[in-house]
Amino acid sequence: MDYRTEIAVRIAVATGLDAETTNGLIEVPPQKELGDYAFPCFALSKTLRKAPAFIASELAADPGLGASWIEKVESVGPYLNFFLDRGHVASTVLTAILESGIHYGDGDEGKGKTVIVEFSSPNIAKPFHVGHAFTTVLGNSLSRIYSKLGYRVVRMNHLGDYGTQFGKLITAYRLWGDEQALRSAPIKELLRIYVKFHEAEKDDPSLGITARENFRRLEEGCPDERALWEKFRDMSLKEFSAVYEKMGVSFDNYNGESFYGDRIPEVVKLLNEKGILTESEGAQVVMLDEYGLPPCIIIKSDGTTIYASRDLAAAMYRYDTYGFYKNIYVVGLPQALHFKQVFAVLEKAGLPYAGDCVHVGFGLVKFKNMKFSTREGNIVVLDELLDESISKTREIIKSNALIRDTGMSDEGIEEVALKVGIGAVIYTYLRAGRERDIVFSWEEMLDFEGDSAPYLIYTYARTRSILRKASERGITDIEISKTDFLLLTSDDETGVVKLLAEIPDAVSRAAATNEPFMVARLAAQIARAFNRFYNNSAILSGTDIALRNARLALCEATCAGILICTDLLGIEVVEQM
Ligand code: ARG
Repeated sequence: MDYRTEIAVRIAVATGLDAETTNGLIEVPPQKELGDYAFPCFALSKTLRKAPAFIASELAADPGLGASWIEKVESVGPYLNFFLDRGHVASTVLTAILESGIHYGDGDEGKGKTVIVEFSSPNIAKPFHVGHAFTTVLGNSLSRIYSKLGYRVVRMNHLGDYGTQFGKLITAYRLWGDEQALRSAPIKELLRIYVKFHEAEKDDPSLGITARENFRRLEEGCPDERALWEKFRDMSLKEFSAVYEKMGVSFDNYNGESFYGDRIPEVVKLLNEKGILTESEGAQVVMLDEYGLPPCIIIKSDGTTIYASRDLAAAMYRYDTYGFYKNIYVVGLPQALHFKQVFAVLEKAGLPYAGDCVHVGFGLVKFKNMKFSTREGNIVVLDELLDESISKTREIIKSNALIRDTGMSDEGIEEVALKVGIGAVIYTYLRAGRERDIVFSWEEMLDFEGDSAPYLIYTYARTRSILRKASERGITDIEISKTDFLLLTSDDETGVVKLLAEIPDAVSRAAATNEPFMVARLAAQIARAFNRFYNNSAILSGTDIALRNARLALCEATCAGILICTDLLGIEVVEQM
């Protein structure tokens, strides 16, 4: 139960405002003497034509605002202050979490609905850079969030495996390709000949003509060109798969651009039937003036297809195959115009699902005081960012006296370095609104006390170790489950409980806005609140057995809460560190 939302609903009923508005107005008072939640009545004074303070005092007396879990409602000036019954809240929330474990917050809003999450979508023969990592991390998290809410999720990787650049690659490979090099480091070799092609083309423009010819042959299905293309694709995919495995990411299919190549005639046919395909300078386009957008090119003047036409074919295929409820594209903001055009064409063609296609954009990736040894061209490759993060984490762990004292084995250290190092990168991508630019800095992302994955994972591991110690002393789960939650009423305990109660709502809101940061932020708040409780209270050493058990139950519930959130973010925790 989310108390804030429940209170918002009650205020809405009592005042005639809608619940979303009242929810937005609810504040958390700065001092505990003012209650757990406060509702300022200023906004009501216009419509009700009464002074805010008068409205507050009237509402305080309204029995409709009461509930078994509300201890009291008080008015102080223009504010209406709500005091929760702390024991009641602790009991409801902790029972729910301990009963459902990792399934706490599972929802059924998605029952019977399919959501397509298209993400990652790197380009064949190009390095997997930190921008592709952004969509990979975001898409993976969104997939998990939708699944938790009961949606059937189809994870699609729309590989950039088609287009005129393959004509260039085929041409370049025939001229300068090194089979051996291709085998040992495919993307590096493909990039080398691609760069070389562009340099050579400056002096010899006929190369461009050959490349276009080769792409046309590829589109027509000529076996030699097709075989080379397949080789480039397979080898690149092998390299990408290694990255996905490292990050714990998987896909239901890799239907890339090429997959839709032979579906373009259907698109052309439909657009013609609707009478919206027109000719412009030899190309076939759909005019989008009424949307205030530039024309969308469907077929180029040389008869070949283009990125947008393949996207139109893809949207149609996805609807025909999956009957999606939502079709999500996790792609950087620079492609916003492209998606506006594609969605506008779908709408103009009268396809009813045009409005269910959503571009989920994200910002740029930047670095603060970070050097990378092997920049390929001007970009940072994800693999290197991950490796650096893992090795820096390993150093930190090895140099930390506290951690050393637990007597961890080398393998143990390795596992922690791997999970924490990768988690640190993932968390940096997800901790703020996705449209904001991201700045990576080692100090922040590996700060074990900061807003970071190491902090979350460390909090989890330490809490687990308290529970391990408890069980070593013979305190069993059964004993914990018989606990009296009504004893958990201190500010620190209530602080943790109230945040745990917010999990279900945070997951729904993250899905509604496609913003995993809502889950990330809550996880950080839970960890922060738990550490405050941990620092201020005796847990295992307490002499009051009932209180000790209740506090252990709070530890158990906190572990479940952190685990639910990190799992939704795609971050793995460790049991010990
Ligand atoms: N491969 C493209 C790129 O790296 C992203 C593909 C986005 N998805 C799509 N359906 N157009 O820029």
